[in-house]
Amino acid sequence: MHMTELIMKKRDGGEHDQAEIDFLVQGISDNSIPDYQLAAWTMAVYFRGMTKEETRRFTMAMAQSGKMMDLSSLPGPKADKHSTGGVGDKATPLVMALVAAAGIAVAKMSGRGLGHTGGTIDKFESIPGFRSTLATDEFMEQLRRIGAVVAGQSSDLARADKRLYALRDVTGTLASIPLIASSVMSKKIAAGADTIVLDVKCGSGAFMRDLESARELALSMVDIGRGLRRRVTAVISNMDEPLGWAVGNSLEMTEAIDILKGGGPGDVRELSLVLAEQILIMAGRKPQAARKELEALLDNGTALRKFEEMVAAQGGKIKLDVEGYNLPAATHTIDVLAAETGWVKRVDALKVGQLSMELGAGRQRLGDEIDASVGVVLQRKIGDRVESGERIAVIHARRGEDRTLRSSELLAAFEFTDYPVVPPPLVLDIIS
Ligand code: URA
Repeated sequence: MHMTELIMKKRDGGEHDQAEIDFLVQGISDNSIPDYQLAAWTMAVYFRGMTKEETRRFTMAMAQSGKMMDLSSLPGPKADKHSTGGVGDKATPLVMALVAAAGIAVAKMSGRGLGHTGGTIDKFESIPGFRSTLATDEFMEQLRRIGAVVAGQSSDLARADKRLYALRDVTGTLASIPLIASSVMSKKIAAGADTIVLDVKCGSGAFMRDLESARELALSMVDIGRGLRRRVTAVISNMDEPLGWAVGNSLEMTEAIDILKGGGPGDVRELSLVLAEQILIMAGRKPQAARKELEALLDNGTALRKFEEMVAAQGGKIKLDVEGYNLPAATHTIDVLAAETGWVKRVDALKVGQLSMELGAGRQRLGDEIDASVGVVLQRKIGDRVESGERIAVIHARRGEDRTLRSSELLAAFEFTDYPVVPPPLVLDIIS
């Protein structure tokens, strides 16, 4: 079999059979397919797509291209959560704390941020001392003892996806439904959980820009999971504006802790409750009772204690009674002032994410150093009234930033209007 034939077959709209899929995934994993041929093939998939069966086969082959975690020695459901990537998305620590506090084990393998979207591991690692590289037995021991563990995706897990994802990132082929579905689901299947909630982001800061394609992606992933006897629910959530106020690693972790302590922005709290609720429902709880139980766990501090326990077990040193919780803080801040009076019509998530990345919160390439302390804190979002000259955001930066330039870059993410605006719904659909 030759890779050139497979590229031409896909270019002409053909469907790969099992032998071809196995050849592809083997060649991706052992590097026998060079980058230039793989790039041509991913572009062909980007334009031609994959059938349902082809996507399922490709997902399974990618899942089996590395280690498969076996969580079956633990009693009860084992939950996992995955977001397709957004700006200001700090729901993972909250969902983990809530679900574990409700007595359901959460085993989370998370990635690092790439491009304008943040990564869960970078956010956790902004906590001084936090370790995200865990040996399998340590991972399992913590899961058994505390019911919640988060680790960086080991290079052994869905090995083919690791290479393919990095290549897609630099070849303009990230936003392909079969490639995202197989990338996400291969990792979820290899990580071993049987109860999976997917947060499919939709809007300017997400890979899926419109509801129709977000639904198609959600259905594809739910379908793959079901075919493999996993319980899967996809929540489609709005990513036209950043989630919450904070964007940037320690700023987002601070916001997550604020919510666990009873404060913080309502949208993050709500989305985290919705995602956790879906896990509890899949695990057999009644919908209304699940929601009530989760709200109580959040309001009475049980979820906060579970979070503390998980962080401490992984070496993290947070101080809940001091301002900033012992997380790194930027040395410089830049106030961003409204240029006009009116209502906020738009806060472009993509622009905010890109600015935060350029400030040093994200990486342009895998392996780039990040600065945990920098980012953006919004003070006004869609629907809010603003007066000209009023502060609408604060940029947290390193020394030497051009204050006027950075301020105008963030201002460019805002659009104002002179009539009241109704904020868009947060949850756009739930597919289960
Ligand atoms: N998240 C993933 O894990 N893979 C993708 O392709 C996109 C988002």
